[in-house]
Amino acid sequence: MARDDPLAWARDHTPILRSFQEEYGDEQPLDGYTVAFASHLEPKSGVAIETLNVAGADVLFAPSEPKSTHGDVVEALDAREGIEAFAWEGMTDAEFDEAQQDLLERGPDFILDDGCELIAKVHADHPEVAESVLGGGEQTTAGITRLEAMDADDVLQFPVYGVNDTPMKHFFDNVHGTGESSLTNVAITTNSIISGKDVVVAGYGYCGRGIARKARGMGAKTIVTEIDPRKALEAHMDGHRVMSMAEAAEVGDLFITATGSREVLRGEHFERMADGATLANSGHFDVEILLDDLAQMAADVSHPKEGVTRYHMPDGRRLNLLAEGRLVNLTGPYSQGHPAEVMDTTFAMMFVAAYDMLVDDPGLSPGLYAIPDRLDRQVADRKLETLDVERDEPTESQRAYERQWEHPDSSF
Ligand code: NAI
Repeated sequence: MARDDPLAWARDHTPILRSFQEEYGDEQPLDGYTVAFASHLEPKSGVAIETLNVAGADVLFAPSEPKSTHGDVVEALDAREGIEAFAWEGMTDAEFDEAQQDLLERGPDFILDDGCELIAKVHADHPEVAESVLGGGEQTTAGITRLEAMDADDVLQFPVYGVNDTPMKHFFDNVHGTGESSLTNVAITTNSIISGKDVVVAGYGYCGRGIARKARGMGAKTIVTEIDPRKALEAHMDGHRVMSMAEAAEVGDLFITATGSREVLRGEHFERMADGATLANSGHFDVEILLDDLAQMAADVSHPKEGVTRYHMPDGRRLNLLAEGRLVNLTGPYSQGHPAEVMDTTFAMMFVAAYDMLVDDPGLSPGLYAIPDRLDRQVADRKLETLDVERDEPTESQRAYERQWEHPDSSF
């Protein structure tokens, strides 16, 4: 039996990207541009890379995380004319960094990034390349945080669209995508039930909210930890128990971090956890669970199951760490990342960011920009069309009402 194209299944489930391929395949609006693309390299991002190439761009791609690369996808893309891989499965951290540097030396015109990997490196290590980059887009919260810092320091050399901050990205990818895929991967990796467990979610932002909601939907007893008083209150009003991590550490069966910060779970918490507690991270970087503390506290370390590292505490308690503390939904042995339908909207927004800055609205000055709302709405409408879902249009009278500032019946 012939081996299927590794992108085929994802292509079937990414109708917006397919619609871009159909619309721009002949016209080739990105012809003449070289687009650098960093992402977790698996079938869905493969379709995004393919879509940029079908629209005319030469694409250079690298991973945004060394352990989430699917080798068959990389090989299939690299074999296509106009696409070049700076990635392979099983890269070390050093090779990952080197490959990104090699890509940047090729002087891309545009950078579509994940975690501000390429954009930070082009500014730090290849300033002469940064000067000629026309623009960029960033798809995740962690990357936006770094870009905000770069923007505040006034060091950005080109305009960047904050794709993560569009409703079409974070309301779906972060909430539903991270929510479902994190829990799915925890359940598959551990082969344990989530229903009835005390599940502690650190961070009640878009991702944490999705994880907590869906864990409750699966029958878990949810606990949320937060540092922001409004988010803590929101979690409380949504019906989750809210407490400090010190308190939660004593009750949790499963801990999932999604804060974008670091050392959220550390020694003082590991000391309080019960035997068999499971720890997973959904945040972008592998710094949310302090692995050094785990390693120092443990008398022994074992691997009871693929994807699980067990830390044996001197008092006999065993703490189970999933996916080495890296993104649990993307880097574990069974991880497939977000559902394709969700990544369809995220990558559509990345495509739109490149199209708008290169074709429709070039010449923005350097800085971090919100994607214009009209583009977000256009992608939402495309998505609704693919789902065969209809929405209402406001009537003329309703439009006029929106523009009116005086009370309609006002007599003053
Ligand atoms: P967000 O900014 O909406 O939420 C983060 C929340 O964590 C905030 O409410 C903040 O107050 C809270 N927080 C910060 N430090 C904390 C601490 N020490 N303890 C408890 N709460 C704390 O960010 P979002 O979009 O939810 O993203 C969170 C992380 O997940 C980021 O690193 C992001 O890049 C990553 N991410 C991961 C995905 C995945 O596939 N696993 C997908 C999308 C984002």
